[in-house]
Amino acid sequence: MTEALTGEAPRLAAVNSLMAAIADTGRDARRGGYSRPVYSSAELELREWFVAEATSRGLAVERDANGVIWAWWDLPARHDDAAAGADPRAGALVTGSHLDSVPGGGPFDGPLGVASALAAFDVLAAREAAGTLARRRAFAIAVFPEEEGSAFGVACLGSRLITGAIDPVRALNLKDERGTTFAEASRAIGLDPDAMGRDELALSRIGDFVELHVEQGRGLNTEEYTDAAGRGPAVAVASSILGHGRWRLSFTGQGNHAGTTLMTDRADPMIAASQAVLAIRSTGAAQPGARATVGRLEPVPGGTNVIASRVDLWMDVRHADDAVTAALVTQIHEQAQRIAALEGCGVELTEESLSATVHFDASLTRALAASTARTIPGAPALATGAGHDAGVLAAEVPTGMLFVRNPSGISHSPEEYVEDDDATAGTAALADALEDLL
Ligand code: GLV
Ligand code: MN
Ligand code: MN
Repeated sequence: MTEALTGEAPRLAAVNSLMAAIADTGRDARRGGYSRPVYSSAELELREWFVAEATSRGLAVERDANGVIWAWWDLPARHDDAAAGADPRAGALVTGSHLDSVPGGGPFDGPLGVASALAAFDVLAAREAAGTLARRRAFAIAVFPEEEGSAFGVACLGSRLITGAIDPVRALNLKDERGTTFAEASRAIGLDPDAMGRDELALSRIGDFVELHVEQGRGLNTEEYTDAAGRGPAVAVASSILGHGRWRLSFTGQGNHAGTTLMTDRADPMIAASQAVLAIRSTGAAQPGARATVGRLEPVPGGTNVIASRVDLWMDVRHADDAVTAALVTQIHEQAQRIAALEGCGVELTEESLSATVHFDASLTRALAASTARTIPGAPALATGAGHDAGVLAAEVPTGMLFVRNPSGISHSPEEYVEDDDATAGTAALADALEDLL
């Protein structure tokens, strides 16, 4: 290892102390892991932590109209830019991720991308100070709100708002489980709901977006990539994101008394919903490459001695071919209608969000692969089944991603795990990639 690299090792490894500093925030004693829904006290604490870390590094921190936090490393002001009225931040290199989590999620999904961005910045700033890095453009770290859609139901809400992929009126009317609208939640943290929506200035400032993320499957640990000790490479470059969407199936029946209603006299939407769960599983399993999941089901009113009057069931369906995803949902809807009719119930399908399959920008992906190869020879290209803000932004700007090895592949669970050395290696790959792109 060269002197310069040895000197950088503590800066790169700082990703782990940054992660350790937030390890107690938003722990969920009931579910295990972390529950950090957007704009909850836990997520706000993390956002404050990020602002403090960025500010202490001399970055200029701003929150935009859609709730995205930007920490800017500007270029020194240039007289001719100012005279020409040019935006010195236009076409910047941006990295970052999110700080919200799914209910009972792991520590790395989102925060690893933010912590590695801060640590990579330290490395880049030191390289610039040493005269080995000459930047041509501004740099920013971005933190996106509601990536998981855990509170308001639509994933990647911040990036959807910025790009106009969601109508702001629809976004503002989304409700969390307590009935609070996104408009109310946004107002409560000082945002102006009327100012939300597609943001041309923000988009013009993203020249390229690179997101580092924990790998959320066993991609890096498949036999194809593992060495004799069964260990895969620490980092992969992302190739694509599986198309995915969320739908609500609302089964309606007759609410009634659990003791006095004969088994033959019932129109119980819980029975219809339960059979639909099984049908969704078998329909997904019958389609190669598909995923179909029911992770949330809500009986109304929800009492032990009450036959429900309605059961809402949320399903998540994913496939690389968007036409197959659409066909699967149609098939499931038809099955649900048959099942509901047999139980004397009704059913209604509502699409809550849909994201087409994304192939990351080819030239940015090649650049990420070339930079990563310097520290991780043989870093593979991996497709992912998980959604990301980089996927939504890809409709507007070149985006790419790096994935850090996850030994078990488990994610959206308290068991999600990344080894310190792999987080450090991921940060090194990110820093090198950012340097090459700057
Ligand atoms: C987000 O992580 C998703 O893939 O749903
Ligand atoms: Mn994520
Ligand atoms: Mn996630």
